Amino acid sequence: MVEKLIDEAIRARQNAHAPYSRFQVGAALESADGRVFPGCNLENASYGLTICAERVAIFKAVSGGCREFLRLAVVADTQREVAPCGACLQVIWELCGDILVIMANLNGKQALSKCSDLFPHPFNPKDLG
Ligand code: THU
Repeated sequence: MVEKLIDEAIRARQNAHAPYSRFQVGAALESADGRVFPGCNLENASYGLTICAERVAIFKAVSGGCREFLRLAVVADTQREVAPCGACLQVIWELCGDILVIMANLNGKQALSKCSDLFPHPFNPKDLG
């Protein structure tokens, strides 16, 4: 259920470590076998080491051996529903495939898009040869 996944992302957001931007993000990735992997953004004083909530959720899942995914929810305290950044879309596309991306804010706004609609022309790993 979409609302349940958004709730998991809102819960994960509470663990965000965002002392520099003060912009807290939560994510929740649902696997094909029904598990939910939460993630939050984790910033670092060396700013470039920051990792987005979506990638935390994905890396947790994949590093734990999970490979089949259905949906990813992302939530922040924004006016509109928040969308994943381009770097995260590249990672979603490569590690999760063309899953449903649920974008939401804390006030109940939500939008659903396939990854390929948000990111129609990804870098293709097959181009590496
Ligand atoms: N951030 C995410 O967690 N996900 C995104 O898709 C975009 C940005 C985080 C990174 C940084 O900690 C903060 O939001 C501000 O850019």
